Amino acid sequence: MLRGGIVDQKINTVDHPLIQHKLTLMRRKDQSTAGFRLLLREISTLLAYEVTRDLPLTLVDIETPMQSMSAPMLLGKKLCFVSILRAGNGLLDGMLDLMPSARVGHVGLYRDPKSLQAVEYYFKVPNDISERLAIVVDPMLATANSVIAAIDRLKKAGAGRIKFVCLLAAPEGIEALHAAHPDVESYTASIDERLNDHGYILPGLGDAGDRIYGTR
Ligand code: PRP
Ligand code: URA
Repeated sequence: MLRGGIVDQKINTVDHPLIQHKLTLMRRKDQSTAGFRLLLREISTLLAYEVTRDLPLTLVDIETPMQSMSAPMLLGKKLCFVSILRAGNGLLDGMLDLMPSARVGHVGLYRDPKSLQAVEYYFKVPNDISERLAIVVDPMLATANSVIAAIDRLKKAGAGRIKFVCLLAAPEGIEALHAAHPDVESYTASIDERLNDHGYILPGLGDAGDRIYGTR
């Protein structure tokens, strides 16, 4: 049975009906590449609302056509999205639709198919990452090896406050991420059942990168 919608203390499940509906369309094996990409973009915009809910605001003085007022705006240096390549870019696009001026970092990682360990091939984040909330995005939290490696690397680069957003999470990955980085607040659209022997999420949606880019 899927556990989406249940509140897990180690991860926030965003169970908005629009997200759940679109996620079901994405999971279907007959969903086209274009449809999969568009649905992921739409869902990521909705997830972005949730992950940015507690951004700090400040009051600024402005003039409306009617009178002056103090109105809320986001405070200071805001955030930086960090995409775990390559599937992370599928979540990134919808978030940038909502926050087009956000800074973006990239961590290039692939999962070795035998060991399931993450192998890094690229790392680039803004120099002032220590002053920003880093929001790490990757659709799949399976063993958590990839996101743990990405967050290890971000912390080495100076990142302080870090959140993580994924589309699907396996219980094994949630436990592992929380054990390695208990300070990171995580968000998902669904907690699925388990991993198979090859580290794939069940029922899942298959290989996210391949489905976004049509590489299989
Ligand atoms: C997928 C996915 C995650 C990782 C999750 O990437 O996008 O990064 O697997 O698995 P884990 O939690 O067990 O580490 P993949 O390695 O297939 O690379 P890709 O995004 O380039 O397709
Ligand atoms: N990576 C994916 O793309 N899918 C899974 O189910 C697990 C890891």
